[in-house]
Amino acid sequence: MALLEVKDLRTYFYTQEGVVKAVDGTTYSVEEGEVLGLVGESGCGKSVSALSILRLIPQPPGKIVSGEILFQGRDILKLDEDAIRKIRGNDIGMIFQEPMTSLNPVLTIGRQMTEAIELHMGMRGQAARDRATELLEMVGIPEARGRLDDYPHQFSGGMRQRVMIAMAMSCNPKLLLADEPTTALDVTIQAQILEVMNRLSEEFGTAVIIITHNLGVVARYADRVNVMYAGKVIETATAEELYKNPKHPYTVGLLNSVPRLDETRKMKLQPIEGLPPDLAHLPPGCSFYARCEWRVDRCQEEYPPFELVGDNHYAACWEHERVKREAPIGATS
Ligand SMILES: Nc1ncnc2c1ncn2[C@@H]1O[C@H](COP(=O)(O)OP(=O)(O)OP(=O)(O)O)[C@@H](O)[C@H]1O
Ligand SMILES: [Mg+2]
Repeated sequence: MALLEVKDLRTYFYTQEGVVKAVDGTTYSVEEGEVLGLVGESGCGKSVSALSILRLIPQPPGKIVSGEILFQGRDILKLDEDAIRKIRGNDIGMIFQEPMTSLNPVLTIGRQMTEAIELHMGMRGQAARDRATELLEMVGIPEARGRLDDYPHQFSGGMRQRVMIAMAMSCNPKLLLADEPTTALDVTIQAQILEVMNRLSEEFGTAVIIITHNLGVVARYADRVNVMYAGKVIETATAEELYKNPKHPYTVGLLNSVPRLDETRKMKLQPIEGLPPDLAHLPPGCSFYARCEWRVDRCQEEYPPFELVGDNHYAACWEHERVKREAPIGATS
C-alpha cells in the first residue's frame, strides 16, 4: 500500500471572477520513503495541492470539491477535525512557502523549536534543547547549540529554510510536505536544501513531497517528479526518465528554461513564451495549447488522456510521440 494516494483531487476557489480550478483532477501516489518533486510555474496549483493534503484550504472561498486523499489507507477528507489535527504535525509535517511568516520574529529559534518538541514529543527542558540542537545539526547548521538563542532575522534565507525543515522533522513525520521558497534562494542554496531533505528521507525513511519551480534542480534529488500545469499533473516519471525523455511539451519547455546543476548542456536558457491560462476560464482542450510548439487541431478540442508513455511514465499529450522524436533535450542526452 502506498503511504499517500491522491485520487482525482479537485480543489476550487469560488471568487468574483469565477470558479478558480486550482487543482483540477490530480491523481498520484507517494511510497514510504519516496521523494516526490512537484514542479510547475507560479500559480499552477502546487501549494494548493499540498495544503489540500492537510485540509488547510481556507473555506470559503476554497473547497475540496471531489476526490480522495488516502494516507495510510484512511481518507483524510473523511476525518473529523480532531483526527486531522493529530495527523498535522505528527504524521505529516509541512514547511510553508514563506519561512519568514512561519517563524515568529520575536522568539528565539531555540524557543520555537523546543515548543514544537515539547508539544509533539513530550520532552521537557534540557532534553528538548538537546533534541533541538540535534535537529539543527542534522540539517547542517554549524555551531547549532550556540545558535539556539538567535532570532530568525539573524539567520540567512537558506538557514531559515533549514530551521523550518528541522522544526517540521521534530516529530518524526512519515511524510514531509516542503513548499520551497525557490524565488528567494539561489540555485546552489536550493540544491543544498534539497540535499538535506534527501538525506533525511534516506536516514529516517520519511517520504517527502518537494515543491519547486526548478525542474533542473529537483530532478537530481527526487525519485519521481510530477509536472503540474494549470491545476493538473500533465507528466510523471522517475526523475532520470523525465530528464532524459520528456514527453510533454511543457516539460521540455521547463527543462530548457531553468538553470540546471549539471554543466553537460551549455544551452542558453529559453523561457516558455506566453502565459499560463486563467484558471477561472480554462480552454476546452489542452490547457497548454496556446503556448505549444507541437500543437495540432485536436488539442484545442479534446483534453488529452493521461496515459502510459513509457516505463512507469505517464503524460497527457496527443503528440507525445512526436515530442519524443523532436525535443532538443532528448536529442542531446
Ligand atoms: N485563497 C485563495 N483564494 C482564491 N484563489 C486562490 C487562493 N489560494 C490560491 N488561489 C489560486 O489558486 C491557484 C493556484 O495557486 P497556488 O498557490 O497553488 O500556486 P503555486 O503553484 O503554489 O504558485 P507559486 O509557485 O507562485 O507558489 C492560483 O490561481 C491562485 O490564485
Ligand atoms: Mg506556491
